[in-house]
Amino acid sequence: MTPMTKIPFATAVLGMIATVAIGADHIDPAVGAAIKARQSHMQLFAFNLGTLGGMAQGKIEYDADAAQIAASNLDALASVDFHPYFVVGSSSADASDTRALPAIWEDPEGVLAALAKLQGATAEMAGSAGGGLEGLQAAMSALGGACGACHQAYRAPAN
Ligand code: HEC
Repeated sequence: MTPMTKIPFATAVLGMIATVAIGADHIDPAVGAAIKARQSHMQLFAFNLGTLGGMAQGKIEYDADAAQIAASNLDALASVDFHPYFVVGSSSADASDTRALPAIWEDPEGVLAALAKLQGATAEMAGSAGGGLEGLQAAMSALGGACGACHQAYRAPAN
């Protein structure tokens, strides 16, 4: 077989993969909206954490007011009820545009525990970020760790 004769087969296989991927995107619009909403909420986490992380690392000059706002925002964001975001049928096994692992639906108590950890860490940060760079830095690892622990358990790695 020459390489040329292999091309139609490869094209056919790629075509099938594309069809499967498109098929997976034909999900209930309400499910798609929930996926978008939780990813957007995560972006709000990341935006505010970015301010604090930048200050902790000396990449952004420490500013007590800005630090307090970012920390208070994170604390408020962590206190919402996440249930509506995680509708049944919106895991990474059901849809192609999400990294939310099926483990979320199999282990809701674990997810709630991860959220409780985050809430503890954001409360700690909200209590110290505006009081000086050292306090902000001290609260940073628990906060970053709370984000990371949930991702480790419940989010699929990036492709
Ligand atoms: C309770 C678990 C949990 C916690 C706590 C958590 N995340 Fe997430 N995060 C997820 C899951 C699940 C996804 C995948 C969502 C999806 O793709 O549908 C995600 C996705 C993300 C994304 C990608 C969003 C996108 O646009 O696709 C970012 C950024 C992110 N998280 C940041 C954070 C930050 C920052 C924190 C801490 C302040 C945090 N997360 C805390 C579970 C969590």
